[in-house]
Amino acid sequence: MSFREFAQFTAPTRVVAGRDLIDGIGFEFMKEGAQRVFLVTDKVIRETGLADRVSAGLADGGLEVAGMFDAIEQDSAVPTVEACAAAAKEAGADSFFAVGGGSVMDTAKIAMTLFSHGGTVHEYEGIYALPRAADGMGAPLPVAPLGALPTTAGTGSEVSMAAVVKDHEAKVKLEFADFPLFPKLAVLDPAATATLPPAIAASTGMDAMTHAIEGYLTLDGSPQRDAFALHALRLLNANIEKAVLTPEDEDARGNMLVAAALAITQSLGITHSMSHPAGGHFGVPHGVANAINLPHAIRFNAGGEPEVADRYRDVAEVMGTETGGSGPDVGDALATHIEGVTERLGLPRRLSEVGVPEDGIPALVEGAMGDGCTIVNPREPTEDDFTDLFRKAL
Ligand SMILES: [Fe+2]
Repeated sequence: MSFREFAQFTAPTRVVAGRDLIDGIGFEFMKEGAQRVFLVTDKVIRETGLADRVSAGLADGGLEVAGMFDAIEQDSAVPTVEACAAAAKEAGADSFFAVGGGSVMDTAKIAMTLFSHGGTVHEYEGIYALPRAADGMGAPLPVAPLGALPTTAGTGSEVSMAAVVKDHEAKVKLEFADFPLFPKLAVLDPAATATLPPAIAASTGMDAMTHAIEGYLTLDGSPQRDAFALHALRLLNANIEKAVLTPEDEDARGNMLVAAALAITQSLGITHSMSHPAGGHFGVPHGVANAINLPHAIRFNAGGEPEVADRYRDVAEVMGTETGGSGPDVGDALATHIEGVTERLGLPRRLSEVGVPEDGIPALVEGAMGDGCTIVNPREPTEDDFTDLFRKAL
């Protein structure tokens, strides 16, 4: 195994995991410097009573709840982020706490950025684009504390420095990544996923599986992430079907939350390059798109350098799958295993089932070629390769 030219690992988010942590959430968040908390959630979560339980837990710990914002749609959007930041200012808050899935947490991250630094959403798009000392070369300027209680086990946004916000006018997903976007606190409590509909548990769980596999294969990985990814895959393989098919299994749901928080990585690969434009152009939910695209990306990548297939063999091993053979055979065995999981979870298997038309392929190929995840993929795809991959996924 060669020693990498460069690897970076950072995981500054404090993670607390366990049962009934919600009621003591104020006690934990106070340690991060929060006093007047602005809650960010969505209407569905609010109706389950979870946001109110968090609010009570914050108050119980001696914190003040300055306000609550629940107007977040399925994909976080630019005007929503702006409205959230303005409402937090208006409420006189000093910190943010997100209760929800990826869209809620990502909205809170970028709203927290606007709240802390002013400016526009587009200004902070890209990698390491938040304000820094020393003309952008120094330490990131401080931001308001952000905490998160994930209500899906998938996105990993609660422990990541990434966020995605949809620009509905331009039909693109804006991607953000910078150190201040790491939440200060992530609370993993299976009570938060108790009312998660099975279809969402399935698609978000497949997003986590995609993060772990792509994070293990990316050109931009690190040994620490490798360790996280392989343990995430053990947990995912053992718990994803239980958590979806027998949702009353609290151990499975708790393990899925831990798995999703271990699976997150700073660099991904072409499954995500394919799924981002599918979401941007045709509104395909992120996890559903990943579940469909992942086996095709694995088969393609495993046909590249032999070391790539060796990495997939590691993945297959922790997932309890016999690979046999070498190169593309390894990819095929792993892809077949993942297709089996997807099928048992009852997820769609083709992009055409979820609203992608055949004549949409050129736009998807263009989006995938320009996606930031493509350059860190372990095998470089051409436009023709992406066309072929989308045809197979269609
Ligand atoms: Fe993802």
